[in-house]
Amino acid sequence: MESNCFVSIADCSKDDILHLIRKAEGFEKNPNQKLLEGKVCATLFFEPSTRTRLSFETAVSRLSGRVIGFSDAATTSSSKGETLKDTIKMVGNYADVIIMRHYLEGAARYASEITNIPIVNAGDGANQHPSQTLLDMYSIYKTQKTIDNLTITMVGDLKYGRTVHSLLTGMSHFNPTYCFVAPEELRLPDLYKRFLDKKGIQYQEHTDFSPEVINQSDILYMTRVQRERFTDLIEYEKVKNVYVLTNSMLNGSKDNLRILHPLPRVNEIAQDVDDNPKAYYFEQAKNGVFARQAIITTVLNL
Ligand code: CP
Repeated sequence: MESNCFVSIADCSKDDILHLIRKAEGFEKNPNQKLLEGKVCATLFFEPSTRTRLSFETAVSRLSGRVIGFSDAATTSSSKGETLKDTIKMVGNYADVIIMRHYLEGAARYASEITNIPIVNAGDGANQHPSQTLLDMYSIYKTQKTIDNLTITMVGDLKYGRTVHSLLTGMSHFNPTYCFVAPEELRLPDLYKRFLDKKGIQYQEHTDFSPEVINQSDILYMTRVQRERFTDLIEYEKVKNVYVLTNSMLNGSKDNLRILHPLPRVNEIAQDVDDNPKAYYFEQAKNGVFARQAIITTVLNL
């Protein structure tokens, strides 16, 4: 990678992504190593998280590193008015790498301009979630035995969904065909459609979550409608349960179909899907540890 930061998947070349996937594969085979002995990794979470923070911290622990940080910014001096700039400058004096999640788009990029230690973006507003993308792509590679030429259907909140924005960018190196399913209010922003047009990537847009859409897919990427991104909660109420995947909807799907979801889920995947062998979202979350081991060791040049 050109810089020692992992801020946007758009900064990664095709070779960078393939290299990280191969590294993740290696860590899955051998997750307990001493590569981070003597290293301090800071996890600064200004927004809630279960999987991302805990899997980053597991990744560090399994590599014998130590973790400092916070999961609730209300317990830090940012609640007294300390700026993000000052917080990053301070933590940059304590740690060897900063893994941060922030509600503002561009916060991780901004942080990377303030400190010389590597910044890993663990999600910035509705913008990017590049470590999720790496674990998603590793999951796609594991389940499909390839990441080339796949039909990927993304369902739900395509407007604010940072996992969607990152994944469609990362996968764009591998000749995907996309199918986007969203209500009018949550359609994929034009910015991303222009990006796909420029790269010559085929996509369809639908408001109906129909059997035809499911049956043509190799990957069904379900997403949550994110209450926290709406300024008008009446708008959220209108769309919150718009698509619910149930087990019977998978009857005509391809054998190789796998259902991914970055999680947390609310109602968009019925519980009866969990026992279907095509449901892969819990294994996907487990893959996060190995993908994040690959990211941390790469930004630290290990
Ligand atoms: N996928 C994901 O980012 O989950 P968390 O919000 O629990 O970290």
